Amino acid sequence: MQRTFMFRSLGTLLVLSVVIPLNAALLHQLGDVSTTLSPNGTLSAPVTGKASYTGGNLSGGKCMLSTYQLPAGILGTALSAAVWDSSYHCGECVNVTNSKGKSVTVMVVDICTPCEPTRLNLFQDAFAQLADLSKGIIDVTYTYIPCGISGTPLRLRNKAGTSAWWFSMQVLGADVPVQSLEVSTDGGLAWQPTARQEYNFFENPRGFGADTVDVRVTGETGKSVVVHGVSMEPNLEVTASGNV
Ligand SMILES: *[C@@H]1O[C@H](CO)[C@@H](O)[C@H](O)[C@H]1NC(C)=O
Ligand SMILES: *[C@@H]1O[C@H](CO)[C@@H](O)[C@H](O)[C@H]1NC(C)=O
Ligand SMILES: *[C@@H]1O[C@H](CO)[C@@H](O)[C@H](O)[C@H]1NC(C)=O
Repeated sequence: MQRTFMFRSLGTLLVLSVVIPLNAALLHQLGDVSTTLSPNGTLSAPVTGKASYTGGNLSGGKCMLSTYQLPAGILGTALSAAVWDSSYHCGECVNVTNSKGKSVTVMVVDICTPCEPTRLNLFQDAFAQLADLSKGIIDVTYTYIPCGISGTPLRLRNKAGTSAWWFSMQVLGADVPVQSLEVSTDGGLAWQPTARQEYNFFENPRGFGADTVDVRVTGETGKSVVVHGVSMEPNLEVTASGNV
């Protein structure tokens, strides 16, 4: 009896010792990006994964970029649900390289629910730059990179229904992922948080009780831009003075 127990315990220990490192390695590879970031920013470690393709519909994507145009030279991609992280990567750029070393830059604009964690579902035009469409799915490596659009100011967009009593705003054209969007109603003395939603809007379901607010957007690299006096008018879009 005791021997069996000891044997079982040993077995359990052995299994645990194998499973734990595997899980750690897997989690790392699955790219929970917030845990694999370099101290000051964008993911630097290349991810080994697959790329497939989809028709590509920017305005119909989960990032809800219905008033946005992709920057010149940047195409679209959908990202797996496993790394979606409440739309954290929406608007982030990815450098995707095929096995021959050919690369294309894409922006995360949608979710790919059936995708395995490390698969990118590229817009068809992006896939076509890496392989013949008949291949369907290919091996790639990819790296999250700044979009290279820091010279163009980012924009803020209020969702339909925004008011002093319901706050919902998205950031367009940020060069690196947005870490936080905060609101001040006292001229910048106190900053209140918002919560990023699955569909790429930063919200406060009670609103901030003011018709105009100051908004502070902070990028992953720690740089902030403040936009003063933003009206809580539905669908309003304003341009910031810089980027993150
Ligand atoms: C990141 O930080 C390191 C040192 O902490 C610095 O050498 C490097 O230039 C920084 N990179 C960027 C892109 O800011
Ligand atoms: C793209 O998505 C939008 C919003 O869902 C939809 O109205 C439009 O018909 C879609 N376009 C195509 C070509 O599927
Ligand atoms: C993308 O990655 C490839 C391969 O590492 C590199 O040669 C290329 O310069 C990168 N492109 C961008 C835009 O970072």
